[in-house]
Amino acid sequence: MRIPTGVTFEDGKLYYVDQTKLPGTFEKKECTTLEEAEEAIRQLRVRGAPAIATFASFAAALEMDRKRHLAHPQWKVEAEQVIDRLLATRPTAVNLSHAMKRLRERLAAGDRSLLSEAAAIQEEDKQLCDALGKSGSTLIPAGARVITHCNTGALATAGIGTAIGSFYTAAAEGKDITVYACETRPLLQGARLTSWELDRAGIRTILITDSMAAFIMKTEKIDLVMVGADRIAHNGDTANKIGTLGLAVLAQHFGIPFYVVAPSTSVDPNLASGDLIHIEERSAAEVRTIAGISTSPEHIAVRNPAFDVTPAELIRAIVTEKQIHFPPYSF
Ligand code: MRU
Repeated sequence: MRIPTGVTFEDGKLYYVDQTKLPGTFEKKECTTLEEAEEAIRQLRVRGAPAIATFASFAAALEMDRKRHLAHPQWKVEAEQVIDRLLATRPTAVNLSHAMKRLRERLAAGDRSLLSEAAAIQEEDKQLCDALGKSGSTLIPAGARVITHCNTGALATAGIGTAIGSFYTAAAEGKDITVYACETRPLLQGARLTSWELDRAGIRTILITDSMAAFIMKTEKIDLVMVGADRIAHNGDTANKIGTLGLAVLAQHFGIPFYVVAPSTSVDPNLASGDLIHIEERSAAEVRTIAGISTSPEHIAVRNPAFDVTPAELIRAIVTEKQIHFPPYSF
């Protein structure tokens, strides 16, 4: 079954699947204002590094299309402001910065065709996912039992996904695989989105809470861990959803290969190491509650970093569309 991508552009209109409503409700909404786009990204209605980049590109392009009556100097100033606003929505994933840089390059060239750039970003991401899926699948043996974290599938990209795209490709190649999906507290992307996607795709999926990963690695034969990325530094240090670092440490302990699958749009060669990656801190309410229900004393102090950084030495290989990179990494 084909899994819908999180973001689509049809007949000049921008749509997104509200990922906060899944798995209960599949709701595809049209995004008609810049404010709605900013809010959708901030609230994780649109999430996943590549999907955010595509969505923000179309949102900026449509906003500036609504302002096409402006004279060019004014139009350009406002376009820069729109890009700045979208860039401020989520700081950790670099895909958004790459996409906004491409829009800025159009502006610098005096080119107003932001919609065609957004469409190119979307199409390229789709193709990157196909290439990643093929490469990632080569690391997945037939019969493999794989642990993954967060959601890196069609919902998170403009194509089939990255790590999950590799699972789709492996399954399409006839490999009978089992995926253990970590639930991914606090916002449960693994439970709500990954298990929904994989189940629809007919891939055997076992949902575990994050705290079960060590026990599962110790007591069941796990062949590999495969995750996505939000920002990969020059030296291979990789930011991804909070909890990824813990899985990498455990994988090292149990001698299980730990793989990252991500497009080159997730690479930030300007950052020497992961220590320089800005980690988004989100609201305390996400930790104090589950699905809106209070699960802790109301005033308890909370930390809520949305991502962590896995050091390169814990990563057996990083798959990009160009090649499978092995240590020592140099991007
Ligand atoms: O906060 P989220 O849900 O946007 O975090 C998403 C992740 O960490 C993904 O692993 C990453 O963006 C890669 S998606 C192909």
